[in-house]
Amino acid sequence: MKKSILITGGAGFIGSHVVRRFVSRYPDYLIVNADKLTYAGNLENITDIESGKNYRFEKIDIVNKQSVLDLFSKYSLDGVIHLAAESHVDRSITGPDEFVFTNIVGTLNLLNAALNRWKENFEGKLFYHISTDEVYGSLGSDGLFTEDTAYDPRSPYSASKASSDHLVRAYHHTFGLPAVISNCSNNYGPNQFPEKLIPLAINNIKNNKPVPVYGKGENIRDWLYVEDHASAIDLIFHKGKIGDTYNIGGNNEWKNIDLIKLLCSIMDKKLGRPAGSSEKLITYVKDRPGHDLRYAIDSSKLQNSMGWSPIPEFSTGLEKTVDWYLANTKWLERVLSGDYGKYYDLMYAGR
Ligand code: NAD
Ligand code: DAU
Repeated sequence: MKKSILITGGAGFIGSHVVRRFVSRYPDYLIVNADKLTYAGNLENITDIESGKNYRFEKIDIVNKQSVLDLFSKYSLDGVIHLAAESHVDRSITGPDEFVFTNIVGTLNLLNAALNRWKENFEGKLFYHISTDEVYGSLGSDGLFTEDTAYDPRSPYSASKASSDHLVRAYHHTFGLPAVISNCSNNYGPNQFPEKLIPLAINNIKNNKPVPVYGKGENIRDWLYVEDHASAIDLIFHKGKIGDTYNIGGNNEWKNIDLIKLLCSIMDKKLGRPAGSSEKLITYVKDRPGHDLRYAIDSSKLQNSMGWSPIPEFSTGLEKTVDWYLANTKWLERVLSGDYGKYYDLMYAGR
């Protein structure tokens, strides 16, 4: 094999698309997917590539230092693409501890293991840390986050991600560890756990359940189709400048309420319901504490330096996403069983 690459969190939403892309596009790379399989990790997301000769799965918790060291001893790794994380803002509000353990301590363990293995010769090695636009805080009605925007995380989730970004930069600056970071906007698409806005709304509309919109629905997010994020990760992994940061975004800002209305109209068509019926399910609920108003990304550095651009129109990407969820009811049923029911009751009962 030409290279061995560790992808952490490869059973999760974005990670599964990245693993699929790398396993199928790079048959001469060994892809090691390391994942704890939390509620958000699901090997069903990658059954199509699991028999690939260049694919290995390791069930590990990155918070466990020894497991991470063992992994680096077992494989002679050239690169790390680090996606494993606790990723849901609402969960970070009800239980921040896990976010500190996985997102900060887990990243530290990976950095230490990589440094330990690579320090004699950094040639051809890369630690690529996947982060979020939420580290930059919240925008007013105008302006965009650039790579130079000062960090201002405002939820336990974004604070834990900011902390991990700082650690990665510190390891590059202090020890010379070859590292790059990218900060991406909101992803959507197949395989996203239905605690996040778009799949939660699709599932509720399908089941004629209320669609919870926080506050007045005026918060704005910049949406990117998950495969576009995977293609950006591929480019940055291969062409990114060591020590640099790249912002990734869809140039696709939507107020939550407008997005939900668009989704309702797509669902009406797909489910053969009279126009306007799904919108009746929209229910305004108590706002998320500390709810960031607006995220918007300037991704011109990535676009200009590597020729990357997002592909599907939002309505096309959203239709593809709806089609996927409607065709994969068994996947939905399985991920919704177990503890998720309890989480849903706890999160939405008092709202
Ligand atoms: P996800 O929650 O769908 O998946 C996370 C994966 O990490 C799961 O497979 C889970 O089992 C695994 N994991 C969690 N804790 C672990 C641990 N202690 N040890 C090993 N594995 C563990 O998350 P996602 O939405 O796919 O996000 C992936 C990454 O991308 C995260 O780092 C997130 O911060 C970042 N990101 C996400 C978005 C988004 O819109 N979803 C946008 C920008 C950046
Ligand atoms: O910006 C990138 C981030 O996007 C990632 O780093 C996170 O991992 C990812 O979860 C996502 O965070 P958000 O908080 O923006 O995503 P979420 O889908 O939870 O919410 C999107 C918007 O919709 C947000 O303004 C809150 C609102 N919302 C969310 C839910 C779950 C609702 O109005 N109702 C809901 O039920």
